[in-house]
Amino acid sequence: MENKTKPNGSATLNVGGKSVDLPVLSGAVGPDVIDVKSLYAQTGMFTLDPGFTSTASCESQITYIDGDEGVLLYRGYPIDQLADESNFLEVCYLLIHGELPSKAQLDDYTHTITHHTMLHTQLDRFFEGYRRDAHPMAIMVGTVGALSAFYHDSTDIHDPMQRMIATHRLIAKMPTIAARAHKYSVGQPFISPRNDLSYSENFLRMCFAVPAEEYEVNPVLARAMDKIFILHADHEQNASTSTVRLAGSSGANPFACIAAGIACLWGPSHGGANEAALNMLREIGSVDKIPEYVRRAKDKDDPFRLMGFGHRVYKNYDPRAKVMQKTCHEVLDVLDKREEPLLKVAMELERIALEDEYFVSKKLYPNIDFYSGITLNALGFPTEMYTVLFALARTVGWIAQWDEMTSDPTQRIGRPRQIYTGASERDYLPMDKR
Ligand code: SDX
Repeated sequence: MENKTKPNGSATLNVGGKSVDLPVLSGAVGPDVIDVKSLYAQTGMFTLDPGFTSTASCESQITYIDGDEGVLLYRGYPIDQLADESNFLEVCYLLIHGELPSKAQLDDYTHTITHHTMLHTQLDRFFEGYRRDAHPMAIMVGTVGALSAFYHDSTDIHDPMQRMIATHRLIAKMPTIAARAHKYSVGQPFISPRNDLSYSENFLRMCFAVPAEEYEVNPVLARAMDKIFILHADHEQNASTSTVRLAGSSGANPFACIAAGIACLWGPSHGGANEAALNMLREIGSVDKIPEYVRRAKDKDDPFRLMGFGHRVYKNYDPRAKVMQKTCHEVLDVLDKREEPLLKVAMELERIALEDEYFVSKKLYPNIDFYSGITLNALGFPTEMYTVLFALARTVGWIAQWDEMTSDPTQRIGRPRQIYTGASERDYLPMDKR
């Protein structure tokens, strides 16, 4: 990736009796950065920012978020336009290659991905090692990591062709692995991919078809699934993407890096929030219980938080949540579930929270996870599968960011420092002296 930052003056730091000038850099859009690479060499000091609230870890040209305005762009294109006008494989091409494909390019890309959807038959036996009640995210971490043991011919990260083959394999095989994780948990036979179906149609069929009867994909539901994948595809340097980049910075192979990203995404503060948000709506159960839960969410002594609310970057409505809410209504309408009690609880909870001073003052808005659970529940997915679907969709973002970093000739291993507050040096004490 060519460095495209532009010098924009400098910042002067007076510390330890020294005056240090640090370069300020501008990007295409968004906040400028102070380049602190030379800070330790010049001052013997580190910066400290444990949650990276004020720290940019890299330069990237893939995704841009304006948290105050509630803007999300994939390679410059607004997320709502892509959700309404594009399809997931076209968005994959855009995120990986940087431009929307021509018809010929998209047809070729679709053919390539479609013809990489099958899994090695030995991998199917791999599933037999899991307990039937294993969380499907545990199965995803293990099985995606195990792809390193199958595809030795696409693990040389310095070979652009091998990087591209690994990218194709990951995007193509995640739906097959995810569907197998679901089928394994419900004790039904695995359903093989079909090359005459679109990416999302194929995924729904592999999840819900049974050999005992024909399965017709509902085009409205397939379109909704495709939109949900688009909404989850990338999101700049979130926790799991940063995990993938850090793992990749050591030269680890792409399958191992994506497995690390899946593991990080699982947490309830991150991708696990969609599962947690639906469980929360079920626990609330009815509109009259909402005030009690809103009170608990505001109580510092109560660990309860409104899952699906708040975001490190968005201090406005998450633009994905708006599209997700619209998709949620479309799915409930076509399934004749518009009276879904969970939707009523969610909409009333959103109304109350958006009027409540606590949430308004802290700029806590619904995020993408708030409505996704209701939609996925209506589509027929068990709650434990929600984060699996998030991981399936986010794989293209992870691998695009990994490829951007790996192809950057200036890239170095990520190795943060610390501020140490532990014991000073001391001599070992024999047992009789302790
Ligand atoms: C995703 O990074 C990404 O881009 C992630 C993601 C992606 O696409 O990759 O967008 C996907 O992970 C979305 C977020 C999903 N998580 C949740 O919905 C879980 C609930 N949300 C919170 O845990 C929280 O809002 C986070 C984790 C999302 C953000 O945490 P921050 O930025 O560290 O904010 P914080 O915890 O410091 O909260 C700021 C204040 C605190 O109060 P004070 O200490 O200032 O008094 O807001 C409060 C928090 O107590 N707060 C909440 C709250 N979220 C924050 N209070 C009640 N309910 C909540 N949901």
